[in-house]
Amino acid sequence: MQYDAAMIGLGTMGRNLILNMADNNFSVIGFDANPATAALLLPEANHNPSLAIASSLEEMVSKLKTPRRIFMLVPAGKIVDDVLSSLSPFLEKEDIVVDSGNSFYQDTERRVAEMQQLGIHFVGMGISGGEMGARFGPSIMPGGDKNAWPRLQPLLEAVSAKVNGEPCVAYMGNKAAGHYVKMVHNGIEYAIMQLISEVYDVLKHGAKLSNQELHAVFAAWNANELQSFLMEITAKVFLKKDAETNNDLVDMILDRAGSKGTGKWTSQDAMNLPVSIPTIDMAVAMRDLSAFKAQREQAYHLYQKKTPENTAAKEEIIAAAKDALYAATIICYAQGLAMLQQASIKMELAIPMQDVVKIWRGGCIIRSASLNDFYKAFVELPNLQNLLLSPTIASMVTKAEDGLRKFISLAIQQKIAVAASASALGYLDAYTSEKMPVNLIQAQRDFFGAHTYERVDKQGPFHTDWEA
Ligand code: 6PG
Repeated sequence: MQYDAAMIGLGTMGRNLILNMADNNFSVIGFDANPATAALLLPEANHNPSLAIASSLEEMVSKLKTPRRIFMLVPAGKIVDDVLSSLSPFLEKEDIVVDSGNSFYQDTERRVAEMQQLGIHFVGMGISGGEMGARFGPSIMPGGDKNAWPRLQPLLEAVSAKVNGEPCVAYMGNKAAGHYVKMVHNGIEYAIMQLISEVYDVLKHGAKLSNQELHAVFAAWNANELQSFLMEITAKVFLKKDAETNNDLVDMILDRAGSKGTGKWTSQDAMNLPVSIPTIDMAVAMRDLSAFKAQREQAYHLYQKKTPENTAAKEEIIAAAKDALYAATIICYAQGLAMLQQASIKMELAIPMQDVVKIWRGGCIIRSASLNDFYKAFVELPNLQNLLLSPTIASMVTKAEDGLRKFISLAIQQKIAVAASASALGYLDAYTSEKMPVNLIQAQRDFFGAHTYERVDKQGPFHTDWEA
């Protein structure tokens, strides 16, 4: 039997994605360098005859219909290059290799060029939705060689999540556009998670809500315009008990957050472009700061930090927090999407913005009700440079803006760090400023370094002898 597609790497994501392909009536063959990992697949698939395991890459390649479609889901970095060099000798011109992991986009750019030399179509593809998404419908972001897309499209559309019957997959643009879009998706993911955690902090320590009450608040928010996957799982987290102690599990988790680097890459690349994504930057910074637990404890005692008595009513804080989360979340999507647009122009990626927001509506970690509004905004104004310039989005933000201001003031009075929320408001206030105070910065730069400045009334660079 010759198979429709192959999967290299049968860890959590690879195994779930290949099972999803088999469920959708594609015959698939998998390979994993660890035979014990590979052996888990067939029992999980109830020995579905359209799914097989290969004991070597050579065997896997020989059992594929040509031109071949080979997916890889292995850890990002050197392993991807190692797999490609082991695989390449068995490939033929026109075969397609799809790296579906969270690879750094510059690695993908290099690999696209290297594989092109061999006549192989290399596709960098982002997948979002975690384990359950991979199994039952993720959001899929393929980019790269456009000639490969029609041959991947039926398979990817079948396995992807659907919203109103429309698949959550689309061609994301040239070169490493697929991995670039996924990187920015993850930056937004970091930012939204940070915003939610700030709201949690204020509701728990400012408004003194119990975990039961926190569950009720997040569940209620998830039933209206704040509906999102992250809201849904957050509500559930507050109900989970620790099997060992029977305490609420959330209270047993150490306040030190890990990361695999995609948020950091987003911030680094934004600064290189350059484009402002302060809420994503702050989310990365707060995860990094969380690692310094011992220093934080020391500083807590040194500063004798006491939360001042809260004077606002619980309901008032909850209402402000709701609006704050709503507005700040829209602003962080706006930052990420504006970054994608700049990157697309600068690197000639031709990223279709309308499709990006369309395929993020389902399957992915940052899926939310707001994405429907963003999609409509891009349909109405296809050349929208920043979501905040859409009149519809502007009215959504304006409606919640007062709540964001109030939430931040309450948090500041309570000595609760809401740096990401404040950065979102700062971005909004600066972005909607006809005049920013950077004329003064230009004067200072020219004063101490003769860096020159532009004038409001005539063209050209100017320099002043400031002490003359
Ligand atoms: C997804 C996720 C997934 C993963 C990230 C973030 O879209 O399914 O983004 O790819 O959760 O790698 O991981 P870290 O928080 O560990 O960086």
